[in-house]
Amino acid sequence: MNGLYIAFAPLQGYTDATYRRAHWECVGGVDEYYTPFVRNEKGEIRKKDLRDTDPATNAGVPTVPQVIARDGDEMARLCDALQGQGWRRIDLNMGCPFPMQVRAGRGSGLLQRPDCIAEIQREMQRRPEVLFSVKMRLGQESIDEGLAAMSIINEMPLIHVTLHPRLGRQQYKGATDREAFLRLMEECRHPMVYNGDIGLTSLPSLLGREGETTPSKGVMIGRGLLAKPWMLSDKEPAEVLHNMHAVVYRHAVETLCGDSQALTRLHAFWEYVDIPHKQKKAIMKATSLPRYREAVTAAMQVF
Ligand SMILES: Cc1cc2nc3c(=O)[nH]c(=O)nc-3n(C[C@H](O)[C@H](O)[C@H](O)COP(=O)(O)O)c2cc1C
Repeated sequence: MNGLYIAFAPLQGYTDATYRRAHWECVGGVDEYYTPFVRNEKGEIRKKDLRDTDPATNAGVPTVPQVIARDGDEMARLCDALQGQGWRRIDLNMGCPFPMQVRAGRGSGLLQRPDCIAEIQREMQRRPEVLFSVKMRLGQESIDEGLAAMSIINEMPLIHVTLHPRLGRQQYKGATDREAFLRLMEECRHPMVYNGDIGLTSLPSLLGREGETTPSKGVMIGRGLLAKPWMLSDKEPAEVLHNMHAVVYRHAVETLCGDSQALTRLHAFWEYVDIPHKQKKAIMKATSLPRYREAVTAAMQVF
């Protein structure tokens, strides 16, 4: 892809280690896969999150673990845990818009707290062995927050900054703001990666304004790739879906307890996939594995 960096965005509940491996082995075409954020909960790092970043589980898949932290102390604990697992590459989430995280000063809520960002910046400086990156939004309430944060982000030792040009308070509503992306890019001394709504139209047209080549390092794609996992390959959609589904299905039935847990995971696999409504509805309505398998077989035949 002309040397353009392409990342698979982290999507909590969708892009777990099994999904990432399924995509990497059946499709590829992506430089790095970001894990959903690893978090501190009640003073402890969630065990489930650390299982997802277990290097053995991710072996051979180009993976970037992501953390969400509200201050230097949380950042230190999360980095210790990941470095303890052997990671030397960590992404910091400064963009999650979920109210619970924002209220706790994490995600896009962190963009409103320059002191906490500065603590995190100092924590990063203490770990020269780690390649850090940041994933952020324009701000929580206004782009002024993102602009103010950028002066501290510029002091962080980062390989790039991924920017999703919406405000936290917008969650996923409204159009992405390309002008605002360019404005923050002017202020940012790190390479920038564009993220937001890519895959809904063709890839190249999203990389800059009409007729322009993008000055950004590359793109990160989330829901577009969940919808069309084959998007970056010349493989047949049916073949990609069949092969990826086989990996996710096997893992779900072998590791999760009972049909209902397995079905919850399997339904998530299909939630965003670009197949006709009727076939998707049949898959989502299936309450037993035999019914589910029938519905999947029928869906595969529409390609
Ligand atoms: C269900 C869901 C879960 C997400 N989980 C994360 C996450 O764990 N970490 C993160 O940085 N972003 C997360 N995001 C944001 C995506 O990574 C991405 O920034 C956003 O979806 C916009 O990109 P897209 O339009 O290509 O999907 C999540 C988004 C969705 C819809």
